[in-house]
Amino acid sequence: MCGIVGAVAQRNVSQILLEGLSRLEYRGYDSAGICTLDNGECHLIKTLGKVNKLKEAVKEEGCPGFIGIAHTRWATHGVPSTANAHPHVCDNLIMVHNGIIENFASLKEDLITKGYNFKSQTDTEVLLCLIHSLLKTSGNLMSAFRTALKEVKGSFGLALMDKNDPERLLVARCGSPLIIGLGIGENFVASDTLALLPVTRRFIYLEENELAVLTTDTIEVTDLDGHKVEKNIVESDLDAESISKGKYRHFMQKEIFEQPLSLQNTLLGRLDNDEIALETVVGINSDTFKKLDNIQIVACGTSYHAGLVGRYWFEELTHVTTNVEIASEYRYRKAVVKPNSLFITISQSGETADTLASLRIAKEQGYEHSICICNVNGSSLVRESDFTIFTKAGAEIGVASTKAFTTQLLSLLLLALIIGKQKGCVAQAQQQNIIEAIRKLPALCEEFLACDKNIQSLAEKFSGKRHCLFLGRGIMYPIALEGALKLKEISYIHAEGYAAGELKHGPIALIDKEMPVVVVAPDNALMDKLISNVEEVRARGALIYIFKSGESDIKNDSQSKIINLPDCPEVLQPILFTIPLQLLAYHCAVINGTDVDQPRNLAKSVTVE
Ligand code: M6R
Repeated sequence: MCGIVGAVAQRNVSQILLEGLSRLEYRGYDSAGICTLDNGECHLIKTLGKVNKLKEAVKEEGCPGFIGIAHTRWATHGVPSTANAHPHVCDNLIMVHNGIIENFASLKEDLITKGYNFKSQTDTEVLLCLIHSLLKTSGNLMSAFRTALKEVKGSFGLALMDKNDPERLLVARCGSPLIIGLGIGENFVASDTLALLPVTRRFIYLEENELAVLTTDTIEVTDLDGHKVEKNIVESDLDAESISKGKYRHFMQKEIFEQPLSLQNTLLGRLDNDEIALETVVGINSDTFKKLDNIQIVACGTSYHAGLVGRYWFEELTHVTTNVEIASEYRYRKAVVKPNSLFITISQSGETADTLASLRIAKEQGYEHSICICNVNGSSLVRESDFTIFTKAGAEIGVASTKAFTTQLLSLLLLALIIGKQKGCVAQAQQQNIIEAIRKLPALCEEFLACDKNIQSLAEKFSGKRHCLFLGRGIMYPIALEGALKLKEISYIHAEGYAAGELKHGPIALIDKEMPVVVVAPDNALMDKLISNVEEVRARGALIYIFKSGESDIKNDSQSKIINLPDCPEVLQPILFTIPLQLLAYHCAVINGTDVDQPRNLAKSVTVE
């Protein structure tokens, strides 16, 4: 989704801004732009496509100036084009915007009657012209900024410069994350801390409806009414190196192979012999969940799939009724919330608009507690939840979520154990067994990664295929869904995940010899049922690829290929069987020549509804 970088310094800022944009590329975008102010002159450059094109244009045309703003745009209002790319200019004002202005159409009509002409189709230009018209009346930029922000409906992260006042950067947040970076004799703003790591690790997180004025030496944060707000400075533990590909060809590949380490980090300090060190997981006490009767999990995309797996663990280990819902649906449903209910959000970024909106609604609906399972410290979900379990996967740059997913699963398992123990549903011996298994997870993860070469040659069989089905049963059904999502989002092969038992209720009609069917078949209690489903598919001529562990009656033949995977404890199967499916999607994408880390139309962090 869109990215913002801004700087006010005592040196030329264009390189800082461009480096920041490169670091935001992973979020997904279609055009980019930069504007600096120098000696009363405005240097504006915008390009369609990748940030590298913008870099080349800046090299050619030059972009001097000690103050500037830059942007990567993911089109919402208006097609991807240089006219619609940010920054937008209205006379002396220049602005970049993340988010959506919902009442832009009526505001635009009004502004047209006042004589404004629009150069773009964007809602951003409408807001900028509104600020400009208010400035003409009041003569005070800050008050025009505030008044305009009170008039607009929707979400925004904004950075604004005035050619007539080139010492100050005005920024504001409502619904779209914005972070201020503190330097020495220079200050910065960005929509994501990763953009600013080369210049600072000290950050101020703006909250909803907060504005700030940045100069080289000062940062003043106020609310929409102009009241001063005291802010904490947070030191980030990430460093600039967190976003390098190292020896790998793509971030996604690197992140798949980082999973033994990221899972190790998720566990770090959290296991105390056969117990889970409570305070290191969520900061709860030993009674918090004793009376719990219901759990509602809400998330989007891959994080939603993690929630679906979590439900199996919660119901088995805590005996608490658990529901899982897609955030964009939950937020518009009149949910009935029973007493003693826990609301869990799951999100890699902690900024997903629908998940955040659901949490805000849940807080008004009477949930007893909220927990967020999240990978980004300081993110909105973390700040607004009662408790957080940090997944500690490290920065995930590839748009396709990989290590974030497996660490979410592990975090959910730890949480299920905590709640189960508090409710007296998990016996000491059972807990011991699960913890013993969990300790082996990083090493087992290495073993599963060793199938990479096999999967690479398997991926060749998917070359030229247009569609694919993924089948699983029980707790592996969400893993089939996740396998399908990975394949479709990065290789553009249409893929669907199904509960294998559901196939004969419709989808079996799709099967012919052109349709590869991937079966997720670890050695567990549902194996026999799954084999019957596989036979139904085989009888219809499908090409079947069976990812399996343990002994079974399934044999390699002309129609079916077995991919043997290491044995592993049943409780870990959802985590470990995800790995070969990630690799399959990765290699299919490489073969198809797609942009693996930044697939078309997708954004890493979906900060608009
Ligand atoms: O940051 P979040 O986990 O809240 O993001 C949710 C989804 O947007 C995300 O999982 C998306 O589905 C990924 N592209 C999946 O690979």
